[in-house]
Amino acid sequence: MKIIPTIIRFSVFFFIFFNTFVFASNQDNFEQDKKYYVVDEQGRVDKKTYNGWRRFGACSGCHGAKATGGTSGPNLLLAIRNKKIDFITFKEIVSKGRPNKGMPAWNIDPNVNKYYPHIYGYLRARSDGILKGGRPKKIPK
Ligand code: HEC
Repeated sequence: MKIIPTIIRFSVFFFIFFNTFVFASNQDNFEQDKKYYVVDEQGRVDKKTYNGWRRFGACSGCHGAKATGGTSGPNLLLAIRNKKIDFITFKEIVSKGRPNKGMPAWNIDPNVNKYYPHIYGYLRARSDGILKGGRPKKIPK
């Protein structure tokens, strides 16, 4: 009977293949997700990124006014950069929260749950080092 070794070989193959694929696609998403922000050469932002800064007000109490960490929340700029948190992952974390670790779930708060792309865009621009902290200037219409 050769069937068992064959199954094992195939399982190993698919395991490696699948994980490589998932890893690669996460990396791609992270690269692509720069699209969530617009920052011009003068450091001015589009409306969505600006709104992201505004909505981040809900988070700054814990994560710090500049998202670099506060009394009760970690530095989000480092988290996004080091863990390559893409938009989908971000949305998942923020909407569900980690209630047992002090991170609230935001899926019930329309001030936040309608604007995940904007908040991600703002944080990502900061994390990519393209935007400074504080109230951003808007690109004039
Ligand atoms: C009441 C305090 C509090 C508020 C408000 C808060 N967070 Fe958090 N957040 C935390 C804590 C504490 C953690 C760390 C949880 C852990 O240890 O896994 C965390 C973790 C996170 C993470 C995961 C970081 C990582 O390293 O994996 C993200 C992303 C995040 N918060 C985004 C947000 C956003 C966006 C908002 C606003 C909409 C927000 N948080 C508001 C306390 C808070």
